Amino acid sequence: MVGKTILIVDENPASRIFLAKYLRAKQFEILEAPTGKEALILAWSHEPDLVLFDPVLADIPEKKFIQKLRNDARTEKVRLVALSSDPGPARRESCLSAGVDEYLVKSSQAIPSLEQILKHVFTTETPEEDAPEAAEKSGLLIVFLSAKGGTGTSSLCANLAMNIQQSQPEARVVVADLVLPIGSIGPIVGSEGALNLVTVADLPAGETNAAYFYKNLPKPEGWQYQVLTGSPDPEHGNSIKGERINQIVGMLCSAYDFVILDIGRSLSRISRPLIQKADLIVLIVSTDQSTVKLTKTVYDYLQTQRVNSQNIYVILNRALGLEGMTKSQAEEIIGLPIKTTMPYMGGNFALANNLNQPITLKYPTDTASIILKGVAEEIVNLARRMRQETQTAS
Ligand SMILES: Nc1ncnc2c1ncn2[C@@H]1O[C@H](COP(=O)(O)OP(=O)(O)OP(=O)(O)O)[C@@H](O)[C@H]1O
Ligand SMILES: [Mg+2]
Repeated sequence: MVGKTILIVDENPASRIFLAKYLRAKQFEILEAPTGKEALILAWSHEPDLVLFDPVLADIPEKKFIQKLRNDARTEKVRLVALSSDPGPARRESCLSAGVDEYLVKSSQAIPSLEQILKHVFTTETPEEDAPEAAEKSGLLIVFLSAKGGTGTSSLCANLAMNIQQSQPEARVVVADLVLPIGSIGPIVGSEGALNLVTVADLPAGETNAAYFYKNLPKPEGWQYQVLTGSPDPEHGNSIKGERINQIVGMLCSAYDFVILDIGRSLSRISRPLIQKADLIVLIVSTDQSTVKLTKTVYDYLQTQRVNSQNIYVILNRALGLEGMTKSQAEEIIGLPIKTTMPYMGGNFALANNLNQPITLKYPTDTASIILKGVAEEIVNLARRMRQETQTAS
């Protein structure tokens, strides 16, 4: 990228040379330092746009190194990306709490992740009026939908996302609650801060870039992913800047590997483009007459929106524990195969929700936990396959 400077800090000459060559090929100006002290001198004298550093430094502890950069006016706002030779959680925590924007571990995933970050950091510093409708999509977009309330959409969305993150610790997973006028992912995962979909939509587009999300979205204990909670109440929900939603999701897609949206039954003008863009729609049904009939109506609607049946994964959730009809009767009415049945978990499900705990952690040996793990895997594989097919087709 012409005009942007990256300082590479790494004691290992082979790593440094590799990164320098790779980034020069991308037209970045490169500065190199083998030690923390030399890095600080270069950072303060040249004020690079980004510092890419291995926090395992012999001459200065990582925390001190980060704090020195953050506490100096010349580098307080510099983008800091750790590319660490230490895979352990302690150093990651230490770096994140000291103020790095991003922490990557040296692995086969590191370069693609770095590429995402660079692309995002240097393409989203766009003023609001120039911001694109939605950034180019890269992460997989998985949308949870239902025809009727209370079918367990939010609970399954939160729990399946946790299983996706658990099976792929290196991946960046974000869950965003788009249910209007009031979201419910926050109360399920135990996250109720001031930052939510409504407040994020109020910010200028140029501010809500990858670095902003990585830094500010909470990662509730046990759930492992980051979450953008929904509207806290109908008053906020009704005042949301709806035109920003598509753009926010676009930004999330270019920052995260998996963007998982709870749309619930909020099929609207706002959510329609996201449904059309989704790699996979997870449709939650239960076997009571009205839900099944309404699901058929939703499926008919999705078809009018050019959504392919291959992109829809139906889960029968026995949220109510009642069986109004059989699975095959429901399949016949809806016109789609039901891929998985989630068993009725009785009060255990609500208890896990009330304690803000993922089912998989609270009841690890329960059938539901085993099913959640398998479904998460299937969803990921299917979403990937659908993405590949779309790319091949275009
Ligand atoms: N398989 C299940 N077994 C038992 N209880 C369940 C099951 N799935 C969901 N529930 C319970 O059903 C209730 C509704 O779940 P949830 O809030 O996830 O549904 P929803 O479809 O998102 O509803 P809303 O329309 O309000 O957004 C919760 O109390 C949850 O604990
Ligand atoms: Mg819900």
